[in-house]
Order: sequence, then C-alpha cells, then structure tokens
Amino acid sequence: MPVVAIDGPAGTGKSTVARRLADRVGAHYLDTGAMYRAATLAVQRAGVAPDSDDVAPVVAAAEIRLAPGPDGATVVTLNGDDVSADIRTDAVTGDVSAVSANARVRELLVELQRAHADSALLVVEGRDIGTVVFPTAALKVYLTATPEARAERRHRQNISAGRESVLDEVLASVNRRDHLDSTREASPLRAADDAVLVDTSDMTLEQVLDRLTELVSERIGELR
Ligand code: DC
Repeated sequence: MPVVAIDGPAGTGKSTVARRLADRVGAHYLDTGAMYRAATLAVQRAGVAPDSDDVAPVVAAAEIRLAPGPDGATVVTLNGDDVSADIRTDAVTGDVSAVSANARVRELLVELQRAHADSALLVVEGRDIGTVVFPTAALKVYLTATPEARAERRHRQNISAGRESVLDEVLASVNRRDHLDSTREASPLRAADDAVLVDTSDMTLEQVLDRLTELVSERIGELR
C-alpha cells in the first residue's frame, strides 16, 4: 500500500495538487482536512465549545465518511448527511484549529485515516501525514509558500466563488491558522525530516504537478 503524503499549511494549493496528482497517477485520494472539518461541524451541531473537553465524545459518536464524488472531489457525510458544502463555511474554518488541537480527536481521526490505506496507491493530504499518520510513506512532500502568496490565492478563490473577501483579513486569518496549527502540542504542523520541500510561491499548478509526478515515478514507479 504505497502512500504519498502531502503536508503543508493552508493556501499552498495542497488540495488541488493532491487531487490532480491522484488523478494523474491513478491513485486514490484522501483529504484529511475534510475529516477535521466534519468533526468540527459535529461539535458545532452538538452545541459544544470547540476548545472544551467535551469535543472528543461528540467526535467519537459521529459517523464521518469520505467517498469519491463524481468530479474527483470528495463527498463528506456526517451521520449520513452530505455536509460537503457545510464544512467549507467560515464558521467551520474559524473553529477547526481548536477542534484539531484536541489529542483524543486526533487519535480518533488518525485511526479513520489509516483505515483508508489498502492495496491501491493513496495520495493523502493534511498536516501530519508524513510525521504521524503514515511515517513510512513511500514519498513525503511538504508544500510551502509565503503567507502573502497563500493569502492571495485564498482571496482569489473566495472572489471566484462569489464570497466576500478582504485581502488583509485573509492574510491575518492565514497567519492565525499557521500559528495555531504549528504551535499546538498534539502533532503540530511541521515537515518530516525526510520530506521533499516544494515552495509553490512562484510555481504554476502545472509546474507543481509535473514536479510531483516526477517524484512519484522516481520513488514509487518501481513499487507498482
Ligand atoms: O486543509 P484544511 O484547511 O481543510 O484543514 C482544516 C484544518 O484541519 C486545518 O486548520 C488544520 C486541521 N488539520 C489537521 O490538524 N491535521 C490534518 N491532517 C489535516 C487538517
């Protein structure tokens, strides 16, 4: 079960890169951020504060499922409801760092993530995939980009999705999430020692995909 681990902060193009790479190399794709988002939505629906000790039992009782959608996107269900759009709201984005800092929540979701590995090649994106979830992954990539480049990308995505967006606010939110995700005690965001660092600030999506496809064929080609 070769695994390609793709980690990095928000706004590096990670999701698009991981999804497109999986498509190019004929791999399954797993978006672990979507699991933390679904867990956060479960916590909000239960009326529990995101930083309280009560989040873990709520997440333990929630049935979170990820399945491939018709266009290569992931369909996320929470207790049988399709929540694929609901997990992308600002309300969820605002609380997800607090919920994902909970060590027990991480244990529960890591177990769920590992259950997705089977005989197929799997591209997994997240924050701790190469460090914690799949430490023996055949290829680990850490995508980086300057906070300004990442905020600019998020801002453009917001505008094209018809969402209101102020660049300075997006930059502040990127910096805030970076800080929370990289300073939390449980599995902080960091590159694995053996990860290949790819700075996407001045790269197009196609350039990033070409680089990663090359890495997959170098590292995994012979395993398949
Ligand atoms: O990739 P994303 O923006 O959808 O991730 C949402 C949040 O989930 C992000 O702020 C950090 C958290 N996360 C995590 O802690 N560990 C992961 N493996 C994936 C995401």
